[in-house]
Amino acid sequence: MQALSESLRLDGKTIGLVPTMGALHDGHLKLVEKAVKRADIVIVSIFVNPAQFGPGEDFSKYPRAFKSDCLKIERAGANIIFHPSVDDIYPPRFGTYIDMGWMGEMLEGERRPGHFKGVATICAKLFNITKPHFAVFGQKDGQQLAVIRQMVRDLNFNLEIIKGPIVRTKEGVAMSSRHAYLSENDLVKAQVIKLSLELARRLIKRGIRSASAIERWMRKLIESVPGVKVDYIAFNRWDDLAPLKKLSGEVMISLVVVISGVRLLDNTIVKI
Ligand code: PAJ
Repeated sequence: MQALSESLRLDGKTIGLVPTMGALHDGHLKLVEKAVKRADIVIVSIFVNPAQFGPGEDFSKYPRAFKSDCLKIERAGANIIFHPSVDDIYPPRFGTYIDMGWMGEMLEGERRPGHFKGVATICAKLFNITKPHFAVFGQKDGQQLAVIRQMVRDLNFNLEIIKGPIVRTKEGVAMSSRHAYLSENDLVKAQVIKLSLELARRLIKRGIRSASAIERWMRKLIESVPGVKVDYIAFNRWDDLAPLKKLSGEVMISLVVVISGVRLLDNTIVKI
């Protein structure tokens, strides 16, 4: 893969990378389409990365759909699918990991210790292997995007990180490969996530700037739906994820709710 990318670069081709763990849905494909518009060659990686799953998490049961993924990727106009094995990526004496510091230990990192160490390490490896001029990440995983952007800045990776929009089901639920674990009824309940983000936007429009006040309103709305629990609601400066008590500038409002044991992540970025 590295030799192929190197020769494409020598031919003057622009390479775009879309890293994924497969089980592709329209959210992933939107990122691929975005990459296709900008690059001569688009590489989609499919690798369920064991290093970013915690001990009790769903690594072994994470949905895998390689054949149908290939068809979708081809239809979306990408050129290369990079699908390494775990042994290719983590051979027996593998031992170097990227520590993202506090940015990787807050929010999702606090609930999933070691998660961003695994994400940063695999993305660094994918960048070195596929040598892209740019890589596209979804805003859906806002903290992940911010962490990768920071890693690229901190470690002088020579590529651009591009943000892709959050793609939602017609009911407004941010698409996720983990929807495979949910029932129809669960997905109906999950609509409250987007409603709570819209409520936050309305409160901000009305001049409310207190994070804790907005959080209270959002919790009240979400917890009015039976079987839906809030894991966390957070307010962070989009640029560097600094936590905010009074909202100003570009703010990411992110939350995780739990439905039937599945954690559903969503966010919105508001300019104040
Ligand atoms: P995965 O969950 O497969 O997601 C791959 C990319 O698709 C990520 O950039 C994610 O933010 C984006 N994505 C997922 N759902 C989306 C949606 N509804 N709308 C828009 N984009 C969406 O994220 C990972 O894999 C892994 O952590 C990875 C970066 C590949 C490293 O292993």
